[in-house]
Amino acid sequence: MQKLTTQAEWAARAQEVLPAGGFGNFDHSVFIKEGKGSRVWDEDGNEYIDYLIGSGPMLLGHGNEEVLEAVYEQLPKGMTFFANNAAAIELAEEIISATPCGEQLRYVSSGGEADMYAIRAARAFTGRDLVVKFEGGYHGMSAEAQMSLAPTKLVNFPMAVPDSAGIPESVRDQMLIAPFNDFDYIRSLLVEYGDQVACIIAEPLQRIIPPAPGFLELLREEADKYGIVLVFDEVVTGFRFAYGGAQELYGVTPDLCTQGKVIGGGFPLAATVGRADIMAHFDKAKVGAEGWLMQLGTLSGNPVAAVAGLKTMEILKRDGQYDRLRQIGQRIIDMTATELNAHDIPHRIVGDQTLFEVVFTERDVSDYRDVLKADAQKGAAYNKVLREHGLFKSPGKTYPSLAITEADLDQTHAAIKAAAAHIAEG
Ligand SMILES: Cc1ncc(COP(=O)(O)O)c(C=O)c1O
Repeated sequence: MQKLTTQAEWAARAQEVLPAGGFGNFDHSVFIKEGKGSRVWDEDGNEYIDYLIGSGPMLLGHGNEEVLEAVYEQLPKGMTFFANNAAAIELAEEIISATPCGEQLRYVSSGGEADMYAIRAARAFTGRDLVVKFEGGYHGMSAEAQMSLAPTKLVNFPMAVPDSAGIPESVRDQMLIAPFNDFDYIRSLLVEYGDQVACIIAEPLQRIIPPAPGFLELLREEADKYGIVLVFDEVVTGFRFAYGGAQELYGVTPDLCTQGKVIGGGFPLAATVGRADIMAHFDKAKVGAEGWLMQLGTLSGNPVAAVAGLKTMEILKRDGQYDRLRQIGQRIIDMTATELNAHDIPHRIVGDQTLFEVVFTERDVSDYRDVLKADAQKGAAYNKVLREHGLFKSPGKTYPSLAITEADLDQTHAAIKAAAAHIAEG
């Protein structure tokens, strides 16, 4: 019988061909071989309940039969054309009708690109350069987005701290960094710089931190006051928080938003979406060569991704899907609170029912610096026990999927119970 390659062997091979031996920042020792429904299996044969769901896209779970069927139907017809295709137009129509700010959209292949173009479009539209970004906010890997994403050196606001080498200082000088959920700070920042600011870019729920009541409304008011483009990064929240995303759930409509993850049904597809007068900057015939924003991508509007996204959205639109997703999330939140409280372990469960995380802290979490003050060691120990008990998740987020079953919830509860007991032992 052929010997299987173990994860350790794969990891050694990965080290040879990939810097740091992996694709990004997720644990490089794990090699996922297969996913089906709510579960994934690694190359050593370990089975897990998947709360990572591909970092968000697999909201329906893995290998959804209807999505597979749509993809199988498309594959023999062609995988990519560069030219327009009907499936991507239908998907655009669906995204636009679902999204409160949606009038037109531009496709790209990743959420980070969608954010980069949203910022660029805001600059083209306003003729201004400055960008307001929140400390700890994640908007992909562009030079602007790499400012004060996860700084360990905490400087005075609004000074930006680059999280990556290779970014010219001039980019830093175009960024104004603010603390999330700080009403007074935003007001005073804009009194000083408001008429030079092209956009405010925000995750409506920043990583796991919900907006304080009224905070998104304040951003809307202040953006209007100074003619600033308000951008909501809905790469995570789009089609997850509600069919119309966080802007529907919270009732605040930005000028532009970015969509990714769920809309590609597990394939690479994302979009910059929003007001037609801003999106007009992608159209030379409308704005002329001076105002035009050149934007191309080989796989943009890819038909395989488009049919997968369309089918995913058709399923999400069916009665009760979001209620069910929220119920699953709430059950996990409740069992977590019960088990941690049973041992009097100080914590906060931060987020939304559709994505959340336990933070080991005695204080409420309302911005990035509050998360930094939490007990990261306890978090790591807790996550380690969850993994040992068959839960697969990122260290910073729990993503429930619609594929989670009662049996999964029972096993999840047992894992959480064990992790809480472990933390209590110290
Ligand atoms: C809020 C947010 N914006 C943008 C991105 C970047 O998306 P992508 O990884 O598709 O470039 C992510 C990725 O996790 C995200 O969470």
